[in-house]
Amino acid sequence: MSLSWATLGFLYTSSFLYLLSSEKLWEKSEKDYSRLCPWECLIFVQMWPSSFCVSLPSKYGCVMSEKKAKNWTIHGLWPSDIQKCCPYWHLFPSDLTNLVPELNHHWPTFTNLSNFQFWEKEWEKHGTCGGCIETLNSPKKFFGAALFLHTKYNIDRAFEKVEIIPSCRQSYQLSTFVDALEPLLGPRFQLQCVTDGQGRQLLVQIKVSLFSNFSTGCVAEPPVGISPYQPCRAQRGILYVPPNQKDPRHPCP
Ligand SMILES: *[C@@H]1O[C@H](CO)[C@@H](O)[C@H](O)[C@H]1NC(C)=O
Ligand SMILES: *[C@@H]1O[C@H](CO)[C@@H](O)[C@H](O)[C@H]1NC(C)=O
Ligand SMILES: *[C@@H]1O[C@H](CO)[C@@H](O)[C@H](O)[C@H]1NC(C)=O
Repeated sequence: MSLSWATLGFLYTSSFLYLLSSEKLWEKSEKDYSRLCPWECLIFVQMWPSSFCVSLPSKYGCVMSEKKAKNWTIHGLWPSDIQKCCPYWHLFPSDLTNLVPELNHHWPTFTNLSNFQFWEKEWEKHGTCGGCIETLNSPKKFFGAALFLHTKYNIDRAFEKVEIIPSCRQSYQLSTFVDALEPLLGPRFQLQCVTDGQGRQLLVQIKVSLFSNFSTGCVAEPPVGISPYQPCRAQRGILYVPPNQKDPRHPCP
């Protein structure tokens, strides 16, 4: 089949028109949209390693080392209310070189995947949405920001101050945690719990909602989707479990 000159002419004209109209769009977007992000809040998520393996699917090996499990670690930094980021913006080891020792320490995985695989997943799912603000527009900035926030919003220190210590014997009231965290995290944070085989709720994760300038108080929509992590309930005690290296899927027998 051959294209007639008329068809070619039409194609030529329409692509020319297309160029014209896309240029118009571009002008418009420069004026109206170029400085906007599709998200307003960032959810900074820190996790308590000792209870992480309770709900870990058995297809993943759980790897709990005493040393890594002593402190709160980073789970992620998530631009909120957004589903799809930019999955083809890949993370490469060379993006992170100088940060790796700190990331290994503060953002480790407790599965038998590699730390890099964990960071890669977080980057592709969440990090690539951060590119619309200058302070997050590269892997180095994104991972560096999370490390900075982990120091700024230091849960270990907040709990230590009021002597909240890991224990299988003593449970805490939700209000005890909230009172300890409010001075640090402001009014917009959520404690998440996982339920163990005996129906007890175990503190596993703390999410704090931040503005893009990393200060607290941003009002985010509640996330959609199902998770084994649920908001901790005030009606019952909450266990803050110590690490159990021998049987990390059952931290409190
Ligand atoms: C991780 O652990 C799972 C479950 O124990 C196992 O099936 C899988 O082969 C392990 N993968 C690696 C890379 O070690
Ligand atoms: C880990 O947590 C303990 C208190 O639970 C604290 O003394 C220590 O400074 C923390 N380490 C880091 C690196 O934050
Ligand atoms: C951060 O941004 C929020 C919302 O735009 C603003 O209300 C707040 O004052 C800012 N905080 C700082 C420290 O600039």
